[in-house]
Amino acid sequence: MRIVCIGGGPAGLYFALLMKKLNPAHHITVVERNKPYDTFGWGVVFSDATMEHMRRWDVETCDAIEGSFSHWDDIELRFKGRRIRSGGHGFVGIGRKRLLNILQARCEALGVELQFEAEVDSDLAYPDADLIIAADGVNSRIRTAYADVFKPDIVTRPNRFIWLGTHKLFDAFTFDFQRTEHGWFQAHVYKFDANTTTFIVECPESVWQAHGLDTADQEASVAFCERLFAESLEGERLMTNARHLRGSAWLNFQRIVCEQWWLRNANGSHVVLMGDAVHTAHFAIGAGTKLALEDAIELVRQFQQHGDTPAHIPEVLKRFQELRRVETMRIQNAAWNAMEWFEVCGTRYCDQLEPEQFMYSLLTRSQRISHENLRLRDKGWLEGYEQWLAARALVAAGGVEAAPSPVPPMFTPYRVRSVTLKNRVVVSPMAQYSAVDGIAGDYHLVHLGARAMGGAGLVFAEMTCPSPDARITPGCPGLWNDEQMHAWRRIVQWVHEHTDARIAIQLGHSGAKGSTRRAWDGEDLPLPDVGPEPNWPLLSASPQQYLPGVSHPAREITRAEMDEVRAEFVAATIRAAAAGFDWLELHCAHGYLLSSFISPLTNQRTDEYGGSLENRLRYPLKVFTAMRAVWPDHLPMSVRISAHDWVAGGITPADAVEIARAFKAAGADLIDCSSGQVSKRQKPTYGRMFQTPFADRIRQEAGIATIAVGAISEADHVNSIIAAGRADLCAVARPHLANPAWTLTEAARIGFTAINWPPQYRSAKPQLEAGFAREKAQQAAKPTGGFPAAPAPGAPA
Ligand SMILES: Cc1cc2nc3c(=O)[nH]c(=O)nc-3n(C[C@H](O)[C@H](O)[C@H](O)COP(=O)(O)OP(=O)(O)OC[C@H]3O[C@@H](n4cnc5c(N)ncnc54)[C@H](O)[C@@H]3O)c2cc1C
Ligand SMILES: Cc1cc2nc3c(=O)[nH]c(=O)nc-3n(C[C@H](O)[C@H](O)[C@H](O)COP(=O)(O)O)c2cc1C
Repeated sequence: MRIVCIGGGPAGLYFALLMKKLNPAHHITVVERNKPYDTFGWGVVFSDATMEHMRRWDVETCDAIEGSFSHWDDIELRFKGRRIRSGGHGFVGIGRKRLLNILQARCEALGVELQFEAEVDSDLAYPDADLIIAADGVNSRIRTAYADVFKPDIVTRPNRFIWLGTHKLFDAFTFDFQRTEHGWFQAHVYKFDANTTTFIVECPESVWQAHGLDTADQEASVAFCERLFAESLEGERLMTNARHLRGSAWLNFQRIVCEQWWLRNANGSHVVLMGDAVHTAHFAIGAGTKLALEDAIELVRQFQQHGDTPAHIPEVLKRFQELRRVETMRIQNAAWNAMEWFEVCGTRYCDQLEPEQFMYSLLTRSQRISHENLRLRDKGWLEGYEQWLAARALVAAGGVEAAPSPVPPMFTPYRVRSVTLKNRVVVSPMAQYSAVDGIAGDYHLVHLGARAMGGAGLVFAEMTCPSPDARITPGCPGLWNDEQMHAWRRIVQWVHEHTDARIAIQLGHSGAKGSTRRAWDGEDLPLPDVGPEPNWPLLSASPQQYLPGVSHPAREITRAEMDEVRAEFVAATIRAAAAGFDWLELHCAHGYLLSSFISPLTNQRTDEYGGSLENRLRYPLKVFTAMRAVWPDHLPMSVRISAHDWVAGGITPADAVEIARAFKAAGADLIDCSSGQVSKRQKPTYGRMFQTPFADRIRQEAGIATIAVGAISEADHVNSIIAAGRADLCAVARPHLANPAWTLTEAARIGFTAINWPPQYRSAKPQLEAGFAREKAQQAAKPTGGFPAAPAPGAPA
């Protein structure tokens, strides 16, 4: 085949050499606009895992790289006058120039033709090519020329960064944070050869402008950075090698995702994008070069599997795109989280977190490295941190400052007003649709009792309604009469008598989402107009039909009805206190009545309860304030909100911060951060812990404690959320349906044995713990490492 690689960066060169190795008969040319030794940037980093991968495909390249790289294990944080270090992170750094020179030399040795100082204007300049690799980097001309086919999605990010170098040597991957009068700067620092270090300086656009860096030339920018990071540089200079760039050399990162990766051009040649041309990953997780190299490997692997002739090109490219899209999306998601962390750290974490917790938050910024990952990397450091966190939690909970041995963050106590929870796990409210006339019966006693025995610190009863018409279904419980109050009191007393869990109630009014069938008879489907359980009239902030064409229409609630509903909430609150609940939550989420006031999607009122967010919050705040006034002062109140409507024009996470601030000012102790269910047009992004970023943002920016909820399904998730300070409590719903003793089970799974079981169940504890310990030992004994058996190109079959 005749193959042309446009662009001699890591992607183009590595593909060329691997493909030539696969079959020396291919005629392969790499065309590069720069000279062989002329390149931007300083060092790049890979993980040890990337090196292992490369070794399988070309030992010579790998040996040459390994001979030139700097290897280090430690990450060091320099922050607020402290230096904190943890180990086991395993990176290699190499100069970009050195890497390219190794790849160039290997290409030449294998017979790849390299053309330097040759600018390519169009892929059509190579009419004989069977295959054209467009590895022409982030500003790819080829991608732009066929933008209608490749459909690139390019997002320019708000931070500014400058890629500098220095001869000051650092023995760890170092993150240096410096506060200025206008905001925070951070430097990402790593040594990449015997006498040079990469020094990337980053800050938000507003901070950059405030310092006049938008008008500074490169010399002035470098001088500014030298002054700012003088303590770390210890007299060494910073250097730039991006003089070919016009202007100041401060860049904005561009995140690129392409819908289509390949096409057939007017000459009949196949053109495929590779590396930064088709996807970018922020330097916050240092994966750009890895992705470029792994693209090259995958394309060669596909030729190896399907056949390396022109006839096979279409199926090879199709499969290449399928496989690489998924993998790059995964890395891009992780890089996105890490990038966002650096974009917001100045406003969200730097001033809020103490250095110890800041370090933990930094290390887990991509949300790919979990608590147990950190334990594997550096057990000593993690246990020290656990001890630090546990000591603080004990003091905050009114105990003594001594954690006898490291306590996982999930099992630290939490105190709010007079209530101390024994740990951070909450059984999230879950409607059971099993009440009769709004009365919680034996079903609820067994259901909630079992969960209270299961180890969670706080157990929520399901959404309970202040009036019959406030129910979602005829099976929902209520608190509009004393019989209901006595029924709840029986359950609360049982929980208090037999367990050390606390029990909470959630009060809510279903609004436009009421008068529906029990979930198993058709979730959200309306009740019939006639029959034993007929439809009832619905109220909402404004007229709406939750399921268009299906739900019963709700009409706008009048001012008089708003007062009535508020009085009903107050009466229910008094009954909740009489029933003995430890905790009260007001449901302002999921499109129910109070949520319908908050979201602009469901509130079109023209009175003082519609319009601005301040107006839309007015009624929910009135209800909350009236409830708070009658709810005992020594007991906590939380508010559940939908922190994101997931619909354009709806509530955003930034609005959620304002909502949280307003409830905090009204006396709320915690915000329970759910999302969505306001509009059927929602397009949520699901994933593990997918709503936790809302809890994190609200906690740091509004300065109020939060409950994280949603796809939190392992102790490892809870530990990382609590340890990083992303939330104060973690609510777990569906896993508690499958296993009432979820908390006890997870404790045993992670080997935490200092936890109380109900005395009646104690004989099961050592057995469960031994079972998990055995499983762990078996896992550890299994052979690890190695790669799938597929042969490397050129290797004997
Ligand atoms: C500040 C910063 C730090 C980074 N740190 C890391 C890191 O630590 N680890 C990591 O893995 N990645 C890092 N990256 C990303 C990494 O540099 C890229 O992801 C990687 O180089 C992509 O390789 P590529 O071959 O796709 O593109 P490039 O390396 O950009 O190569 C494209 C090549 O094509 C050439 N070219 C472009 N257009 C033409 C044309 N029309 N004609 C001829 N030649 C052309 C260019 O001159 C260039 O040599 C960093 C990036 C930045 C900006
Ligand atoms: C069966 C069921 C009933 C639910 N009922 C309620 C409820 O009454 N009030 C509420 O705020 N959320 C309710 N939810 C939402 C959960 O509290 C929780 O926010 C959601 O399930 C996400 O958590 P998970 O991923 O741990 O399941 C319910 C969820 C389920 C599965």
